[in-house]
Amino acid sequence: MSNAASPIQIGKRNCKNRITMAPTVKFAAGDDGIVTEEFVKHYESRAAHGVGLIVVEATCVAKEARLFPSQLGLWCDEQIEGHKKLVEAVHKYDTLVIPQIHHGGLGTHPECGPLTSPTKVQWNDGDRDVEAVELSHEDIKRIINQFVEAAVRAKRAGYDGVQLHACHAYLINDFASNVNQRTDEYGGSVENKARFGCEIIAGIRKACGEDFIISARISGADPTVAEAKEVADFYVAAGCDYLQVSCGIGEFDDVPHDDSLPYNKIAALGVEMHKHFRGRVPVSAVNGLRSVESVRYMLENDLVDTVDLGCGLLADPAFTEAILGNTPYVKCYSCPNCAFGPGHTHPCPAMRLRGEHEFSVIPE
Ligand SMILES: Cc1cc2nc3c(=O)[nH]c(=O)nc-3n(C[C@H](O)[C@H](O)[C@H](O)COP(=O)(O)O)c2cc1C
Repeated sequence: MSNAASPIQIGKRNCKNRITMAPTVKFAAGDDGIVTEEFVKHYESRAAHGVGLIVVEATCVAKEARLFPSQLGLWCDEQIEGHKKLVEAVHKYDTLVIPQIHHGGLGTHPECGPLTSPTKVQWNDGDRDVEAVELSHEDIKRIINQFVEAAVRAKRAGYDGVQLHACHAYLINDFASNVNQRTDEYGGSVENKARFGCEIIAGIRKACGEDFIISARISGADPTVAEAKEVADFYVAAGCDYLQVSCGIGEFDDVPHDDSLPYNKIAALGVEMHKHFRGRVPVSAVNGLRSVESVRYMLENDLVDTVDLGCGLLADPAFTEAILGNTPYVKCYSCPNCAFGPGHTHPCPAMRLRGEHEFSVIPE
């Protein structure tokens, strides 16, 4: 039986335990998207407390595709130096670290560029309905290249790999979902809808080599649980070696779930995917795993290979130690301050109470 402290192989790398830090955007960069000292400290403190792998927050591959004007980036060489510092700080603790590479797609901030989509569609950008621009075949090839170039920069910065942001209605997820009504080779069959992600994965594998982790954070239900598994099969066949499972555009009413279990329906998507991939590639679950007991339950019952923790590790960098060693921790109590969107994270009351409020830039 494995537990939270059991090492695990991810791709060709050894991860010292089963606890991973989920990507959580801070929106604390300047317009240049460069990693500052605050980011370095933020990630180093989680590594210092023993987390096995860190997925650095959504980091944009193209300036015009940002989720917010203050998002981190890997769209140009000038950004490599800052990432290098972050990687060096985290590697001191034998923690693996990969950035989540991201293209806003339907989630692009209107101040950064147009909302883009596999198919022309009316989309609500949070404030109003906007018509998303349909990508041409040429645009698609250019964006695939932007992902590969961002991964090459990540490798030059010393990262152990990259994670594709392929969930939460961003571009890679948009292709795999029902939003995609294309009739060319990027739409129609499941294989075609997965092609965009697959070409990115294959391009990164070719450019960055076999020992570079390629993870994908996928939706466990787009448009159904069964189809999401098929998409994931294509990603794995293309060279993806680690899946983290969240949600996307699709409903997930068809996920088998018993409400009496100590994990929610989104985490159950990870459990389903893990059953499908058992023994092939490691699979992680996320969402609502904010107590020592719930994390241990997932791992000790072999429901997933790793767990990724968002708010639990934002509220207390030492949450990993509590899981591994029964030390005290400050529990995230799911306050509304951390709801997704600008303004979150920084006012985390748990961190602030202890005088560990981390970022000086507070988004409006
Ligand atoms: C402040 C904040 C920022 C987030 N940023 C990202 C992100 O950059 N990429 C991503 O895939 N998910 C992001 N998420 C979702 C988290 O990774 C995670 O899936 C979610 O918080 C649920 O897990 P939890 O209950 O452990 O927090 C974010 C969530 C929060 C609260």
